[in-house]
Amino acid sequence: MQKEFPLACPVCRQALTVCGKTYRCRNSHSFDVARQGYLNLLTVQNMPSKNPGDAKEMLIARRSFLSGGYYLPIAEHAAEMINRHGADHPIIADIGCGEGYYTWQLERLCGADCIGADISKEGARMCCMRSKSIMWIVANAGDLPLQSESIDVVTAVFSLFHQSEYLRVLKKGGIFVEISAGSHHLTELKQLIYDEVFEQHKQPAPAGDGFETVSVSEESFEISPGEEALHQLLDMTPHSRRIRAENRDNINNAGGMKITVDYIIRVLRKK
Ligand SMILES: C[S@@+](CC[C@H](N)C(=O)[O-])C[C@H]1O[C@@H](n2cnc3c(N)ncnc32)[C@H](O)[C@@H]1O
Repeated sequence: MQKEFPLACPVCRQALTVCGKTYRCRNSHSFDVARQGYLNLLTVQNMPSKNPGDAKEMLIARRSFLSGGYYLPIAEHAAEMINRHGADHPIIADIGCGEGYYTWQLERLCGADCIGADISKEGARMCCMRSKSIMWIVANAGDLPLQSESIDVVTAVFSLFHQSEYLRVLKKGGIFVEISAGSHHLTELKQLIYDEVFEQHKQPAPAGDGFETVSVSEESFEISPGEEALHQLLDMTPHSRRIRAENRDNINNAGGMKITVDYIIRVLRKK
């Protein structure tokens, strides 16, 4: 039997129900599942540009790097927080899910029903190769096609914090788990790219009313990617657009070097 997810029509906000390969609301707005298996619920009004979100090359680099398992401790940490603070067998909405690595890991590690949402259609296409049981949607984080108070856990991994929208879709007592870059994230990689690297004190955006903070901590670990994975790490970040050609050689000679992964993990609960 097909799983039911609490999707809402992006046009009129009514619940969407599925029949075969088509989702329809009671006002007869209908949306067909793409050949690859994702559902495009991004309306023209919610499209900030013609091809919004991360570019295909960035997504391919991210897929290859993440598939090497270098960031698995981050996925495991997020899952541990969900299992500790969230509902049993939760419905998780992973917002800005990219090519789907963390959504897929959370489905596995939390026994969850997952929705992965990203504004990039290319990302959604790639997500379908990660898992067939996850509901992959193309959507804007600022206007989610999800029913109000229907989600147990919202996650955003190196992604966006749309406070009012996450509060709207979360059930009362539901949690938001956020991973963001810490102050020393990828410092050694940045030193290869830029002439000067300034220390930045990173902090998550204020939680605001409507949420209470359950926990916030900064964690780090080291990885030593080989040359190919180091290039993928560079290419999955915005640094790849800023690196000068001569500094690319630094990366060619740096396979196996130690790189700090530093992230802030925050759990907020909807009051
Ligand atoms: C840094 S990537 C992180 C992807 C994924 N969570 C990961 O860590 O592998 C940020 C993602 O947010 C998506 N994104 C950017 N703006 C968005 C928006 N308004 N709504 C939904 N997704 C968005 C991008 O397409 C990109 O895939």
